[in-house]
Amino acid sequence: MKVTVVGAGAVGASCAEYIAIKNFASEVVLVDIKENFAEGKSMDLMQTASLNGFDTKITGSTNDYSKTAGSHVAVITSGIPRKPGMTREELIGINAGIVKSVSEQLIKQSPDVILIIVSNPMDTMTYLTHKVTGLPKNRIIGMGGALDSARFKYRLAEAMECPTSDIDGMVIGGHSDKGMVPLTRIATRNSVRVSEFLEADRLQKVLEDTKVGGATLTGMLGTSAWYAPGAAVSGLVQAIACDQKKMFPCSVMLDGEYGLSDLCIGAPVVLGKNGIESIVEIDLVEAELSQLISSAEGVKATNTLLNDLNL
Ligand code: LAC
Repeated sequence: MKVTVVGAGAVGASCAEYIAIKNFASEVVLVDIKENFAEGKSMDLMQTASLNGFDTKITGSTNDYSKTAGSHVAVITSGIPRKPGMTREELIGINAGIVKSVSEQLIKQSPDVILIIVSNPMDTMTYLTHKVTGLPKNRIIGMGGALDSARFKYRLAEAMECPTSDIDGMVIGGHSDKGMVPLTRIATRNSVRVSEFLEADRLQKVLEDTKVGGATLTGMLGTSAWYAPGAAVSGLVQAIACDQKKMFPCSVMLDGEYGLSDLCIGAPVVLGKNGIESIVEIDLVEAELSQLISSAEGVKATNTLLNDLNL
């Protein structure tokens, strides 16, 4: 199973590293526009193979997409990351053109590829990829909810002073500071609702910290985070490659589900060898549904910015 990762920056390289360490792919091709950068990152990663005990072959390419031919899954991380104080939406002008060109080149080499979009603003970049490629909706997946859910579980575990492995929880909605909808009502610690452990105001703080999870790290690091984004992507790639039928919240093109259509936004999906095998419609209470609808309005407003970009 061959995987391409476009963009050998921090997120792309972490993603390649986690995929290799999990040892389920035969080959990972890293692509970058910067001369020799992907080749260098690949060589460095390959020199960890004997130390970390993986057999995945990692190769690098400077913008030569012929090296990506026959990929089963391709991850697009290219574009510029956020700087402190920036929103994900502010990146649209530069990243839209890059994501369009990268997705077109990938499909030329791998007509059956399943695309995972990471570049920000992620929901809008996922929508754009649908519009420019016309691929069936099961083959375009936006990575945001898996990351936001991991951050949500981290914050819940921190608040309850317990290991994250005790926690189950999910964030749906847009991958933006205002748009995320952490489902605190149904989050659990070993099947017990988290509201039995945490007072409402502490739970509200968990929710708020989760929503600004990316911005908090951007402020601390001077650029966008990479370990958790890389790990989240590797989980999605593995679910597809190993046909796991595992459920994740991902940005997906909706067509009436949750009363929404003609946008990509975070909703629970089942991932397997066909990419998105199904979209799961869970029963939301009125407050959650209205948060999801207002999140969708925000995503749609960002999508309309695509019209001014002359792509
Ligand atoms: C973040 C970026 C990947 O949330 O959107 O860290």
